[in-house]
Amino acid sequence: MYRMLGVDSKHRRQKPLLLDDDDRLLSEESHVRARAAVEASLADGSPHELDLEIHRPDGTSGWVTARGEPVRDASGNIVAINGTFTDITKVKELQRLRDEWTSVIAHDLRQPIGTIMMASAMLPELVGENMTDEARAFLDRIHAASGSLKRMVDDLLDMSLLESNRLKLERTWVSPIQLVDEAIAKLGNLAGIERVHVEADRGVRSVFADPMRLEQVLFNLISNAIKYGDADADVIVRVTRNGSDAEISVTNRGRGIPPDELPRLFDRFVRSKATRGSGVAGLGLGLYIARGIVQSHNGRLWVESTPGEETTFHVVLPMSAEARKAA
Ligand SMILES: Nc1ncnc2c1ncn2[C@@H]1O[C@H](COP(=O)(O)OP(=O)(O)OP(=O)(O)O)[C@@H](O)[C@H]1O
Ligand SMILES: [Mg+2]
Repeated sequence: MYRMLGVDSKHRRQKPLLLDDDDRLLSEESHVRARAAVEASLADGSPHELDLEIHRPDGTSGWVTARGEPVRDASGNIVAINGTFTDITKVKELQRLRDEWTSVIAHDLRQPIGTIMMASAMLPELVGENMTDEARAFLDRIHAASGSLKRMVDDLLDMSLLESNRLKLERTWVSPIQLVDEAIAKLGNLAGIERVHVEADRGVRSVFADPMRLEQVLFNLISNAIKYGDADADVIVRVTRNGSDAEISVTNRGRGIPPDELPRLFDRFVRSKATRGSGVAGLGLGLYIARGIVQSHNGRLWVESTPGEETTFHVVLPMSAEARKAA
């Protein structure tokens, strides 16, 4: 471990190696996260696992995964934290290269996809009456397919922005109820949209947020509820006030998500076992991006699911003054 961190074991034994405030081994951001994780473990006995960036005394940098678990004495008091470090520097470097490539390729794909979308929309106007119904049906398919391709490429770009902390928010004061209405309007004529009902508490104040990004979050949650919920059941979108937070929840009835799949559901490219074989299109990026966007607003996104009954995704955003402080 000392070799991994690049420090001499003899001089360091008396101090908590990673959390030493005088002699920093961690980047500023990792230091804050590591301290919070250790404090949480000491407070409630929960284990922790997190990736930390290290700056070694010899000037080199690297990454470790730190895992820790509190140790209790006979009377149940936490007396120490047992932990391990794994050197993940090479893995991180490969991840960085992969994200760079994803971003370059997705970026280059946008322009030709845009051309296909534009041309397939214009062609009927140029050809006019002479176009057969069959040709028009083919064009509609080209237009719809290029639209899905555009959404996938945009999601890949957003994924790489989130991975490299480059997602920029354009914040303004916006009403959560209006965000819901806009997201539903954008879902347009999606099959099943008529099953969506909104229940709004008019006491909800504005949030200081990026409307386009939050509409993207709601777009995914509502389209998921339609795609993965029972075909004959309603989808309820609730906007409520919860103390100084605004909460938007999306509830549907249906198959739901089994408990063993919940821990990884918000990871990228993760789709539930039942979905993978169902033929419903998707990359498994929607929830990963949604959580990234909500967290950059200092909010929280989580799910509660009872398989076969109800599934609810909750988005909680700080209202007004609290949101401004976070920005
Ligand atoms: N309301 C829901 N009910 C049941 N399963 C759900 C629900 N919402 C999401 N899931 C499961 O979570 C998985 C991940 O959702 P996510 O939105 O990230 O990806 P996706 O919808 O598969 O694809 P994408 O959003 O990238 O088009 C889905 O594939 C599905 O298995
Ligand atoms: Mg989705």
